[in-house]
Amino acid sequence: MKIIHKISELKKITKNTNKPIGLVPTMGALHQGHASLIKKSVEDDNFTIVSIFVNPVQFGINEDFDKYPRTLEKDAKLCEELGADIVFSPSIDEMYQDTKELTLVCPPYSSINKLCGKSRPGHFDGVATVVSKLFNITKCSKAYFGEKDAQQLFIIQKMVKDLNFDITIIPCPIVREPDGLALSSRNSYLDEKARQDALKLSKALNYAKELWQKGIKNKQILCDSALKILEGTIVDYIEIVNPETFEDWEEKDKNALMLIAAKIPTTNTRLIDNMELR
Ligand code: PAF
Repeated sequence: MKIIHKISELKKITKNTNKPIGLVPTMGALHQGHASLIKKSVEDDNFTIVSIFVNPVQFGINEDFDKYPRTLEKDAKLCEELGADIVFSPSIDEMYQDTKELTLVCPPYSSINKLCGKSRPGHFDGVATVVSKLFNITKCSKAYFGEKDAQQLFIIQKMVKDLNFDITIIPCPIVREPDGLALSSRNSYLDEKARQDALKLSKALNYAKELWQKGIKNKQILCDSALKILEGTIVDYIEIVNPETFEDWEEKDKNALMLIAAKIPTTNTRLIDNMELR
């Protein structure tokens, strides 16, 4: 496996691959959730590129860009063990000549004026822009994204359709710790006490799912019940959407996706999680 930092070098290699290219875009600090995406790409018999790039354009000014974990050596070892062909880890200068004078890919307002897009202005412009760049740089035919970032996945799928990227997006299920905590690179910020609070996200989702299965389909009751379990965290949002449209869920909709974002106060860590109610 090669670790590549330069776009030109990557292009030289990808020009000569005879297998389709599978891209796993990441910001590093890889965990078993990322591992499941890499495994899937390798199993699909792709030439697998894992990009590791902490993208400054998707972080707000008061967010955790500076402290975001950077563990390239460890990440590369995992990628190699999993059978990836290349780790692409460019510098900021390699990716952006000037982040202030940058052509951005901007998802439609209706997809970003809610949930994470509402609390993180500019975030999804940054994500859509860097993902488009990675698609163009790697010339991948498939790209693997985790369902934990459900709104991100929805936005990327729409972008691929709207901008005619000839790429198949492969959604991969959330990977959880045995006690239910969804894996996230930001879990590394949690001490034991904070971890107990973080667990409330999956507990709240599971509780709402239980109520749903008992026949309670009232949005207010479901959200209020989940909210009680989240006590002790600072809830950013708790919503139920139609996963096909990301519009507010209505009783006529077949599928329902509950999403939560909350800050864990002692460590100021913002976590997200989601679950289909069915
Ligand atoms: O999900 C992430 O880690 C990032 O948003 C992504 C898709 C790698 C873009 O920087």
